[in-house]
Amino acid sequence: MQTDKRPDDMKRITTEALAKEFIDEQISAIRAQVGNGKVLLALSGGVDSSVVAALLIKAIGANLVCVHVNHGLLRKGEPEQVIEVFRNRMKANLVYVDATDRFLDKLAGVAEPEKKRKIIGAEFIRVFEEEARKLEGISFLAQGTIYPDILESDGVKAHHNVGGLPEDLQFELVEPLKLLFKDEVRVVGKALGLPDEMVYRQPFPGPGLGVRCLGAITRDRLEAVRESDAILREEFAKNGLQGKVWQYFTAIPDFKSVGVRDGKRVEGYPVIIRAVNTKDAMTATVENVPFELLQHITDRILKEVKGVNRVLYDLSPKPVATIEWE
Ligand code: XMP
Repeated sequence: MQTDKRPDDMKRITTEALAKEFIDEQISAIRAQVGNGKVLLALSGGVDSSVVAALLIKAIGANLVCVHVNHGLLRKGEPEQVIEVFRNRMKANLVYVDATDRFLDKLAGVAEPEKKRKIIGAEFIRVFEEEARKLEGISFLAQGTIYPDILESDGVKAHHNVGGLPEDLQFELVEPLKLLFKDEVRVVGKALGLPDEMVYRQPFPGPGLGVRCLGAITRDRLEAVRESDAILREEFAKNGLQGKVWQYFTAIPDFKSVGVRDGKRVEGYPVIIRAVNTKDAMTATVENVPFELLQHITDRILKEVKGVNRVLYDLSPKPVATIEWE
């Protein structure tokens, strides 16, 4: 039985061979723990939950039920990629829930960032709980807890607290990655055959684009932030910056400025580009993106993204700024 303490002599998983060894051990451990039982997993498409899914599919196949909740605040192409990789390629038992309207209705008119986060978190648990209740005979819940989540007791993935699910929905936890560091999780993911875009994905906050569509979320600005983010990611990938820059994204404020289009004064939203490097997200420096590339990205955003008439580059390090805008 695994403990929550990483043994001092545990080898760091740095190679495919070591990853395969870990995978074999975990497959046996998972089978021993769950037997013929069914396991539920909230699959966000992030590195940790994706690696847990791939590992459990190998260990117990269709006895794993993955639930992918689309809260409408995901990046362009993300839900499609989860469906393609897990349902189509890995033949996972995947429940896809498009809850966009529910989330956006709850968020309508809410401008305060922490309130937005709370609404998104609470609604996520509610949707997940509803799906869990529809399924029968499930007694285990898999989680992508990793070692830093255990070390920081305030971790994002509340360890040992089953994500705030109600009393009558208590499950036994399956946490195969709980002694691994992030870089090891990536090596294991690669050995399990997950695509690079998933394994080397940049960090993405749980509330997603919700905290990048500043103030009260509106559908037009949400689409603008999603489209501009997709352009930024595409251009960073084309220009060798993907995997080199730690985190990069766009944000969109809730005010307009005046611009000119076809000889007429037209108001539009600004898009802010942010690209930062950090080791632990406590401090961060700004990436020195080549000016020509910034100009090219600006041209594309102004041409392709509806309602936008300015593009700004955020030059602020953390501190004094934070990485996200809210
Ligand atoms: P800040 O903005 O505090 O961000 O400098 C530090 C890191 O945390 C991420 N972040 C979040 N992640 N839920 C998350 O799961 C959140 O509410 C949240 N807010 C910020 C941020 O993207 C950065 O990587």
